[in-house]
Amino acid sequence: MTTATQTMQIRKLSPHIGAEITGVDLRQVDTDTARQLNQAILDHTCMVIRDQHLTPEEFARAAALFGEVMDQDHPKFSFPGLPTIQRYSNFNVDAGGKHIRSANRWHSDGSFRERPPSYTILYAVEIPSTGGNTDVLNMRAGFRSLPDDLRKKVETMRTVNVRAASKSRAAQNPDNIRIMAQGGQTPHIHPLVRNIDGTGEKSLWFDTVRVENIEGMDPEASQDFLFDLLDKAVRPEFIDSHQWRLHDIFMWDNRSTFHRANYDYDMTQHRLMYHAMILGERPH
Ligand SMILES: [Fe+2]
Repeated sequence: MTTATQTMQIRKLSPHIGAEITGVDLRQVDTDTARQLNQAILDHTCMVIRDQHLTPEEFARAAALFGEVMDQDHPKFSFPGLPTIQRYSNFNVDAGGKHIRSANRWHSDGSFRERPPSYTILYAVEIPSTGGNTDVLNMRAGFRSLPDDLRKKVETMRTVNVRAASKSRAAQNPDNIRIMAQGGQTPHIHPLVRNIDGTGEKSLWFDTVRVENIEGMDPEASQDFLFDLLDKAVRPEFIDSHQWRLHDIFMWDNRSTFHRANYDYDMTQHRLMYHAMILGERPH
């Protein structure tokens, strides 16, 4: 079968963030369409691709249009035989039997890794009747909006990143605390401001839950500094609050944005996403 010519449309959603993509079936994407999709995520920092009908295997192949699909932080939630794809469900429980509700803070995924994900991709399989938006924040815009002197200061700073920072003010995932208690992992030092390949831009980049400290600063002062920085960089016009429709693929440039979950829906309703991450470069 020859692939039908697709009439993909890319619609910008606001001046600072977000695009909506329609008229494409990710199961049959030609080289030029794949190139346009990869350019769109760089241009818009997050995007929704509507009306996809994918099995977990097809979702994994669709994710691979954006690069190498990487291992999950908590592989116990992955599909059997498909370790890179997670069942991201509000019914998932941690090692203590509690529902996991720790993503309601502004963060970037996987910053404790040497090579954190460039992109995070979610696919809506079941959604609650209302609520449960995913918020994404453009931190390239956040960085540009800082006063000159602060921008210069943060550009030289480096963070020490672990699974669960000892002085984190936000709730930690108990599975991460358990991993830390068992010896944790090699801490990775990353720049607080990173270059975004392919854009010529820079972005603020950190997760307060993962930053043990900023180099040369103690852990408490580091938390103070990062929360103050967040206060200065977060503006409503930099945020896309994604209201899910069934069969949406929604993804963000994890290097250029922060995101957060909203636990504002009826938790007896099942919210199920397939989740994948694309291997990124070492932050620089
Ligand atoms: Fe996340």
